[in-house]
Amino acid sequence: MTTIALIVAAGSGSRTGLDFPKQYLSLNDKTILALSADIFLDHPAIDHVQVIINPEDEDLYRSAIAERALLPWVAGGETRQKSVSNGLEAAQAYSPDYVLIHDAARPFAPADLIDRCLEALEDHEAVLPALSIQDTLKSLEGDKIAGTLDRDKIVAAQTPQCFHFASILAAHKTFADISVTDDIALAERANIPVKRVEGDPTNLKITTAQDIEKMTAKFLTDVRTGLGFDVHAFDVNTPLWLGGVEIPYEKGLKGHSDADVALHALTDALLGAVGEGDIGLHFSPSDARWKGASSDQFLVHAAKLVEKRGGKISNIDVTIICEAPKIGPYRNDMRQRIASLLKIDRDRVSVKGTTTEKLGFTGRQEGIAAQAAATVRLPE
Ligand code: CTP
Ligand code: MG
Repeated sequence: MTTIALIVAAGSGSRTGLDFPKQYLSLNDKTILALSADIFLDHPAIDHVQVIINPEDEDLYRSAIAERALLPWVAGGETRQKSVSNGLEAAQAYSPDYVLIHDAARPFAPADLIDRCLEALEDHEAVLPALSIQDTLKSLEGDKIAGTLDRDKIVAAQTPQCFHFASILAAHKTFADISVTDDIALAERANIPVKRVEGDPTNLKITTAQDIEKMTAKFLTDVRTGLGFDVHAFDVNTPLWLGGVEIPYEKGLKGHSDADVALHALTDALLGAVGEGDIGLHFSPSDARWKGASSDQFLVHAAKLVEKRGGKISNIDVTIICEAPKIGPYRNDMRQRIASLLKIDRDRVSVKGTTTEKLGFTGRQEGIAAQAAATVRLPE
């Protein structure tokens, strides 16, 4: 008995908004495609695993699958149906008895789902894992509700969809001109009885940008915190930049860049959270490029370092310490500006002002201090 798994991965993932196909996105340290392939490579009853790809993605494919023991890849087609069909044709070379056809876009199919499918395949030509529907289902006519469907007669199809190899190969050939979105639809056309087995709610399909957002978030379990602190002296001849906003005030702050003490503290907090040194390491005060530079770019650079690690900023909090100017009237502008620089929601950004009760250098109004904290979530 020979069983082959075909993983269709020749799509472009146009609905994700990524600029590369979703199956090559890394979740934690493995790509979605590698996760999907490993489900079958790790299953003792599967003899071969063959992936169907767009030949233009060959480089992405090679780095995604690394040293895995897969059959040589097969070129997909314009549609999913054509990609499967090409895979089946190529798989004939291995004389399989059973075939499991799986979307690369479902990287979390659990092993016991595969067990259920394989067991059912012993007595059925076609097997579909499918989930019952929890919501009440309505039919539509235009934008009007036309009726209520019998939920007990409806299930949501998942993959792997499993077949006796010869049956599904023949169905694909016979109905090549009919357009369908899954392989069971062809079995239905060919009057092959299809056995339903229980699907698994964790066997999610990645389709949209929101799906990616949700899945990625699941892996960001390494929570890190960083702190930042900075001080700049007042200078009468410069504008005052604080929290990315220009504030009308009688003096500004002295510094090599625009001296935005709040953004500097925030930048250090973010760098601290990812262990990337301090602001001076990335933007040397002796480098002429940063003379008078807007501190926006320092903060954006730190945020990019978090993004590069596959991480997300959970929240940041900055306290600006001075007797004057008052921070309150500019708080929301600063929050808005910082949120847009970091590409996060405004409610993840906090800006606070305090005085030192006229004590010390801030009390004597010689300068402004700022301290900040940042929490980021990284993949383990
Ligand atoms: N697929 C394929 N060949 C195609 C189209 C799709 O092999 N010509 C694969 C996809 O790579 C995916 C699976 O079929 O693993 C299910 O398709 P879907 O989720 O629609 O993925 P895409 O077609 O890549 O995405 P989109 O429709 O958003 O472009
Ligand atoms: Mg598609």
